Amino acid sequence: MISRTTASECYVYITLPGETEFVTAGKFELTTDRRGNPTGKFIYGRSYLARENAVAIDPLELKLSTKTYETNILKGVFGALRDANPDYWGRRVIEKHTGQTQLGEIDYLLYSPDDRAGALGFGLNQEPPAPRRKFSQTMELERLQALADLIIADEDLPVGAEAEQAQHLVGDGTSMGGARPKAVVEDEDGLWIAKLRHPEDKWNDARVEHAMLMLARECGLQTAESKVVTIGEHGAVLVKRFDRGKTTGGYRRGRMLSALTLLRSDDNYQDREKWSYVLLVEELRRISSQPRTDAPELFRRMCFNALISNIDDHPRNHAVIAMNTDWKLSPAYDLTPSTPVSAERRDLALNCGDLGRYANAENLLSQSARFLLEPEEAKTTIDEMEQNIRNKWYDIARREGVTENDCEKIASAFAYPGFRLVIPP
Ligand SMILES: Nc1ncnc2c1ncn2[C@@H]1O[C@H](COP(=O)(O)OP(=O)(O)O)[C@@H](O)[C@H]1O
Ligand SMILES: [Mg+2]
Repeated sequence: MISRTTASECYVYITLPGETEFVTAGKFELTTDRRGNPTGKFIYGRSYLARENAVAIDPLELKLSTKTYETNILKGVFGALRDANPDYWGRRVIEKHTGQTQLGEIDYLLYSPDDRAGALGFGLNQEPPAPRRKFSQTMELERLQALADLIIADEDLPVGAEAEQAQHLVGDGTSMGGARPKAVVEDEDGLWIAKLRHPEDKWNDARVEHAMLMLARECGLQTAESKVVTIGEHGAVLVKRFDRGKTTGGYRRGRMLSALTLLRSDDNYQDREKWSYVLLVEELRRISSQPRTDAPELFRRMCFNALISNIDDHPRNHAVIAMNTDWKLSPAYDLTPSTPVSAERRDLALNCGDLGRYANAENLLSQSARFLLEPEEAKTTIDEMEQNIRNKWYDIARREGVTENDCEKIASAFAYPGFRLVIPP
């Protein structure tokens, strides 16, 4: 019988700590056997391993070594590489642009533009390409929004004179993950992720997301820097990229790994049991150079999410980053309130204690020792944060331009009654 094994491969490039240009780190090969079972292989290049300043792509799963790494999980794509691949929005743009919907994982890596999260790049040549120098500028946001609207509506992109511009703005798209329409834009301060409007938004998401980041800072969380830019009637929230550092010679890049990768987990339903803050903090303590800072910080984020009903706190919305050689928890990002009907029980996306995903104070406290907190400290953290959120969410939201009407819509997200429900033994 003829075997129908298909294989494809690409080179993996990396920008080393402190540098602004790619070097070739290794090679990735993806094979699918005739039953459709994938095998991914990764091997570091000899000349890469010989570099004094070589760093691992993933210090837990792909340590610097001459061995050939193999994986059969995650469609054969190592977590660190999967994190560099666009997800829903970036893939939508590529499919629109190429007119193809049957693309393989390596195709997405190769088609996606070089603005992806983290320090990696991909290509077919052993020699890496020069770093991307041109980015869309903040003032192009209005056009970016108009093109994003066309993609969402599934309409044809402009042809003729405008096509070239569309190519620049959309064809160059973005490799950043996430489902919301977005683009990477540059201004004199550096690079920002612009999160654009979606027609199904229930409130002014840009202003609400910015207000949540401000509220999180008020509660002592480390967050990404953000601002709102008005486009027509609406706005976009611009979140400063914490994995890029502007220098006179280009951009430095930090390596990034999502919590999905730290948990060795996939997006699908079967893997949901691995989605857990309690397991995540264990991995974080292994990888972080500052576990005594990062573990309590993850505890605060979990509590904050529970207190603003952020049930979209899934493992792609947490990450670790290494701007130099040391890894640490990334600043918080993508904080969004939600308003489920239930006032008694709301579930986070990750397990947060002995009672599973229940966003409830007692549950959050049940495993606080794993976050390197004494029971009293953990209790105080929660009490203070609850007070802070109750007292400040509205003022901060109004100050950041959330309308009275939108405040009414989101009000039930904050410190919902079930948070303090006493659970019978
Ligand atoms: N400030 C940032 N700097 C670097 N990477 C970021 C930043 N914010 C988000 N990311 C990355 O981009 C992805 C998409 O951003 P996110 O805000 O989560 O968008 P969405 O609302 O579409 O999920 C995240 O999963 C993360 O990998
Ligand atoms: Mg997200």
